[in-house]
Amino acid sequence: MRPRLMAKRALVFALALTLLALSGCAPQPAPEEQAEDAVLLGFSQLGWESAWRIGNSLDIQEAAERAGVQLMFDNAQQKQENQIKAIRSFIAYQVDVIAFAPIVEQGWDTVLQEAKDAGIPVLLTDRLIVTDDPSLYVGYVGADFLEEGNKAGKFLIEKANREGLTDLKIVELSGTLSSSPMQQRGEGFRAAIEGDSRFEIIETMSGDFLRSKGKECMESLLERHEKIDVLFSHNDAMTLGAIEAIEEAGLVPGEDIIIITVDGEQAAIDLLQEGKINCVVECTPMLGDIIMDLAKKLAAGEEIPRVTNPEERAFTEFDEDLMDIPPRGY
Ligand code: AHR
Repeated sequence: MRPRLMAKRALVFALALTLLALSGCAPQPAPEEQAEDAVLLGFSQLGWESAWRIGNSLDIQEAAERAGVQLMFDNAQQKQENQIKAIRSFIAYQVDVIAFAPIVEQGWDTVLQEAKDAGIPVLLTDRLIVTDDPSLYVGYVGADFLEEGNKAGKFLIEKANREGLTDLKIVELSGTLSSSPMQQRGEGFRAAIEGDSRFEIIETMSGDFLRSKGKECMESLLERHEKIDVLFSHNDAMTLGAIEAIEEAGLVPGEDIIIITVDGEQAAIDLLQEGKINCVVECTPMLGDIIMDLAKKLAAGEEIPRVTNPEERAFTEFDEDLMDIPPRGY
């Protein structure tokens, strides 16, 4: 790190602490042994809504330690305004790189312009934004949500083909409204089944990626629809809640209702192995090592790829190695 910058950072440190304290969160103190010239990364996490998210946060924190990256980690508790405050604190602190998982797609231009004006590169992680100015961020690391939705649809087609199923009424539990996984998983799923008269999406409800809301939505769907053959749920947390509702209604998940979910949490894989879920589309939260690698490159002034997608697969009831899936770690 440049000496002038180190001196400035000392001055703004108190300010940054105050701003983060006001936003309800404090920066993670740097480990004593961290080198003085370590890359300083400000990371704004969107919240704690699912085991996926907790796994993602832990992975980022552990990867930072492994990589010797000094991490200022802020949890926005599901509020966009808290993410904006955290990003402003990182700018005030003059971090080397800012990374964040945007809770929704819209509304970032002003704060990202401030980061750009301060000369701090911004990396999007896990979710995407919509902006007219693509220069406001340098890259994205995270899943291909469109492809995830597509895999979900393709599994349903395979299931219908193998078992000769027709007239399938589908309900969809979508994630947080206006978030990129919610938009793109829905879009990818529709694209896969489009034009196939065996499938009809009869209702979509947002369960906000939360287990409790997944259960509430499923209860309401079961009350209002006499025939539900398929549940496509945008994440495992909502699926776990929905399965509770299905069982409480006296139905057998995985048999009476085909269940397709996204993430790959251990709890969902366990239910796939028990036959209560039919397909789990993987979305890995283990992005920490890639983020640290990209942050170091950015701090060194190097170019990075515009998009980095981790490798992901789908686990289904038709897999021969269904019982040999290694522990998921989240
Ligand atoms: O953005 C990724 C999604 O967010 C995961 O599918 C979900 O579990 C999390 O809440």
